[in-house]
Amino acid sequence: MIDKIHKLLGEISEISAESLEEVEQLRLKYLSKKGSVSALFDDFRSVPPEKKREVGQLLNELKNQVQGKIDTLKAGFESIENKADKVSDLTRPVTLEPGTRHPLSIVRNQIIEIFSHLGYTVAVGPEIEDDWHNFSALNFPPEHPARDMQDTFFIARDPEILLRTHTSSVQIRTMEKTQPPIRMIFPGRVFRNEAISARAHCIFHQVEGLYIDKNVSFADLKQTLLYFAREMFGENTQIRLRPSYFPFTEPSGEMDVSCNICGGVGCNICKYTGWVEILGCGMVDPNVLDNCGIDSNVYTGFAFGMGIERITMLKYQIKDLRLFFENDMRFLRQFSGTI
Ligand code: PHE
Repeated sequence: MIDKIHKLLGEISEISAESLEEVEQLRLKYLSKKGSVSALFDDFRSVPPEKKREVGQLLNELKNQVQGKIDTLKAGFESIENKADKVSDLTRPVTLEPGTRHPLSIVRNQIIEIFSHLGYTVAVGPEIEDDWHNFSALNFPPEHPARDMQDTFFIARDPEILLRTHTSSVQIRTMEKTQPPIRMIFPGRVFRNEAISARAHCIFHQVEGLYIDKNVSFADLKQTLLYFAREMFGENTQIRLRPSYFPFTEPSGEMDVSCNICGGVGCNICKYTGWVEILGCGMVDPNVLDNCGIDSNVYTGFAFGMGIERITMLKYQIKDLRLFFENDMRFLRQFSGTI
């Protein structure tokens, strides 16, 4: 009996298999009820009592070795099968979910596209600005109350360095570098120290525009904005301009569009007025042109600025601005397929 066990021990130290099926064959050969190891356990009953201890130990070792060997062979084949399954099955359907564009990006791209038809190109600038580009060059005198219109985040208690409150700062940077004609739009992120609510956020997005040339008039501004409003909200859209105040434009206006949700009849989005304000605009103040080295006796121009969140909310009837920043997939997925 002991010889038999030793013989089997030698045998199993050399076994190998080419496939999972062969491993199964080995298991049957040694460990099934009729297998050779099991047969030895049957024989064990007839071993004389004084030998039982020695033979029993050997027998157990044999069984463990066979089981161990078979488990190792099996695990090897299974891991190869798994890998092959994952890596090389080119027919497996793709389960990756394609991403969707953020609604603010969709609308920003649309705005850029609409103005590109009128010959406007795009420029961007820094989000951390100095007082000159965000305020002083734009005709905000020091200590002037108009600075309070835009609650500013200052950086490291330095009143000279701040997070830009509007992308008008990029208009200044452009005018300092370029002589007219200038026809550009300026998309970007802006920052104001405002409490977060359904209608306001401390970070939001703007697109501002600037057109400077000889003989640019308020009529050009009005026609440009009418074209934009109809491209964005539909060809039946009406606009109206109300007088307003900005330090960098004179005269200044705010533009409303007819409410595209109720068609002008009155609803809670337009607060039952039939009109929704979407942008500020005006003729560039001659002081601003002079501050940037553009001769205000020769050139005139207009500027306008709008919040992308506001336009997007109107276009898609979104009632809470905070949704744009929460990255809730249930909200974002609704814009899949829109470019
Ligand atoms: N910069 C203004 C704002 O952020 C918008 C604006 C731009 C108004 C250009 C007039 C002309 O509120």
